[in-house]
Amino acid sequence: MSKLFHTVYLLIIFSACLTPLNNANSCRSYCGNITIDYPFALQHGCGHPGFRDLLFCINDVLMLHISSGSYKVLNIDYAYQALTLHDPHISTCDTIVLGNKGNGFALEPWRAPYMNPAPDNVFMLIGCSPRSPLFQGFPGKHLPCRNVSGMSCEEYYGCPAWDGLGHNKWAREEFFGSGPPECCAVPYETIKGINLTKLECEGYSSAYSVAPLRVDGPSEWSYGIRVRYSLQGNDEFCGACEATGGTCGYGEDAIRQVCMCGKVNSSSNCDSVGFSSGTRPMAMKVSAVAGLLTYMLLWITINQI
Ligand SMILES: *[C@@H]1O[C@H](CO)[C@@H](O)[C@H](O)[C@H]1NC(C)=O
Ligand SMILES: *[C@@H]1O[C@H](CO)[C@@H](O)[C@H](O)[C@H]1NC(C)=O
Ligand SMILES: *[C@@H]1O[C@H](CO)[C@@H](O)[C@H](O)[C@H]1NC(C)=O
Ligand SMILES: *[C@@H]1O[C@H](CO)[C@@H](O)[C@H](O)[C@H]1NC(C)=O
Repeated sequence: MSKLFHTVYLLIIFSACLTPLNNANSCRSYCGNITIDYPFALQHGCGHPGFRDLLFCINDVLMLHISSGSYKVLNIDYAYQALTLHDPHISTCDTIVLGNKGNGFALEPWRAPYMNPAPDNVFMLIGCSPRSPLFQGFPGKHLPCRNVSGMSCEEYYGCPAWDGLGHNKWAREEFFGSGPPECCAVPYETIKGINLTKLECEGYSSAYSVAPLRVDGPSEWSYGIRVRYSLQGNDEFCGACEATGGTCGYGEDAIRQVCMCGKVNSSSNCDSVGFSSGTRPMAMKVSAVAGLLTYMLLWITINQI
């Protein structure tokens, strides 16, 4: 009799401890060697709704798709909340790509609260028409062109890419007499949308400085687009969801956040889902400990009889 008790109780306790946690973040995934985690996701319904339909994994290459085009994602920095993007038609220190081939950077308006190019990312617009909106509405010699985080066109002109372009220093310095500058550096905030067609520019370069590193010349700059993302507030919903063993996602309306608790979805967190679902790690630990205590009590009682 007592032996049967032992066996049955041990079996119950072990099965409770060993039950796989079927909600052990089913949304986390990988693309190549990049981890895709909240607020991003590759599956619909996973992650934060502000980043839905954004990332795609194609042959182990992570791609980001927004209204201005597709970019390769080189890195996701979750601690600093930044993404590093690459556009094959971006001009660098070695090559200048003209012919309005580049994507630039423009977002769907609803995404703007969630992600934007970093303030220390410089966009250098190349070969813009004198009729460009860039040069309109700025009285006197007040152009929007300026240094961004110590990166400027002045320095960029020193790159080998400019050598074969017949770049004319005098035209640049006297641009109000002889046309606009060949390159105009701006931070994203002043233009809000780098659309080469709309700005009537031939090409662009983009570079960022990884603070606090100060690099010497334009040959040392990191070329690419550095984007900061934000969750608008401290995202208490997902914090509470994950703290109770859930995985964060969003509902069919693509607005409402959803906490996925195993087989059940909750509109708050997994503590509000009935104990009976039995998939929560905390609930399992509690029942395992309770089981063990009951077992010990019974064992002592039986042995005393
Ligand atoms: C990922 O792989 C690429 C080459 O395949 C490498 O350049 C990069 O440093 C790797 N990134 C990480 C975070 O390991
Ligand atoms: C829970 O929500 C996710 C994401 O929207 C969805 O894919 C899944 O089907 C939902 N599950 C249930 C049981 O409603
Ligand atoms: C860029 O500007 C052109 C011309 O104004 C417009 O037709 C196009 O839709 C814009 N592209 C994006 C991605 O906003
Ligand atoms: C931009 O920075 C360079 C070097 O840091 C400096 O020589 C130049 O005067 C600055 N230009 C403007 C417009 O601030």
